[in-house]
Amino acid sequence: MTKIGILGVGKYLPENVLTNADLEKMLDTTDEWIVTRTGIKERRIAAENEATSDMAVKAAKLALKNAKLEPEDIDLIIVATITPDMFFPSTACVVQQKLGARKVPAFDISVACSGYVYGLTLADSLIKTGGYKRALVIAAEKLSAVTDWEERSTCVLFGDGAGAAVLGPVEEGGILGAALGADGSKGDLLQLPAGGSRMPASIKTVENKLHTIKMEGNVLFKHAVKIMADAALAVTEPLGLKGDDIDLIIPHQANIRILKALAKRMGVDPEKKLYLNIEKYGNMSAASSAVAFTEAVESGRIKKGDIILIDAFGGGLTWGALIIKW
Ligand code: ACO
Repeated sequence: MTKIGILGVGKYLPENVLTNADLEKMLDTTDEWIVTRTGIKERRIAAENEATSDMAVKAAKLALKNAKLEPEDIDLIIVATITPDMFFPSTACVVQQKLGARKVPAFDISVACSGYVYGLTLADSLIKTGGYKRALVIAAEKLSAVTDWEERSTCVLFGDGAGAAVLGPVEEGGILGAALGADGSKGDLLQLPAGGSRMPASIKTVENKLHTIKMEGNVLFKHAVKIMADAALAVTEPLGLKGDDIDLIIPHQANIRILKALAKRMGVDPEKKLYLNIEKYGNMSAASSAVAFTEAVESGRIKKGDIILIDAFGGGLTWGALIIKW
């Protein structure tokens, strides 16, 4: 069967940096609390007139450039986001138009922080079975638009950004396997309650800040390590891979303590095998692992022949782990 791999990657981070010192002026919090509990020092915040599709398009253009391809070479567009420009049309359709791509299938997926892994997996399958040749997968989020800036337990965590990848046939390496999952019974742990058909927007929903992210952080924390470790096993075991065989883990950047615990559970040295950028960007949901993967490629941390594990979990709950040989 044809091998499908990544032909090019790109990322976009908004210019505006919001530091922990800035947050200290806005809320009852400290740099010390945020750094010790989360590992985050600063995050990027999109401009008011900058929507998710604007960031997505910037990341996508760089991914196309790196792949030495033009928008018309793309046969499929998938955008992973929980902060679409609007309910519909999908952000993927907006991106298609802004890029000047052909009238190819374009759709969003809503799986929170697991979006990049779900998107890559879907694109891999659709290229293998659906007659498409090259796909553009973008993970983009403007979480600042759905953050309650008076709620210190959540607003210090999130940031905005976008990462993109162009997928297509490769001679060597490529995606070796993926494992996806979801557990809807724990959906209440992380949600944005209002604005949908269950609780349409009203003056009351706005007054009660129900259009912002609600999270039971400490309960989620306990599930996160096990979920990410189990997802890693679900993808590595069938491929006969052990912790030592993985050259680099690109985890969803939710919390430094979760990631160090994951490394311990997998029996790998976090200093050597874990790619971390949470310090600079916070949690950008689906965009986190996309930006981290892109940075690792751009900085040369990922080398030809390396075995990479991308491992994510998020609201839904959802999770996904994917192995790619570079
Ligand atoms: N500054 C100062 N104090 C704070 C802050 C803050 N920013 N936020 C909370 N506190 C206080 C709390 O009020 C609490 O005080 P109390 O003991 O007097 O009640 C105390 O700190 C401890 O609060 P906890 O919530 O128990 O702190 P915890 O150590 O669990 O850290 C955190 C919170 C960082 C949110 C952690 O639970 C976490 O990272 N959870 C996982 C988040 C996650 O992975 N989410 C999923 C992905 S996100 C997505 O899908 C979009």
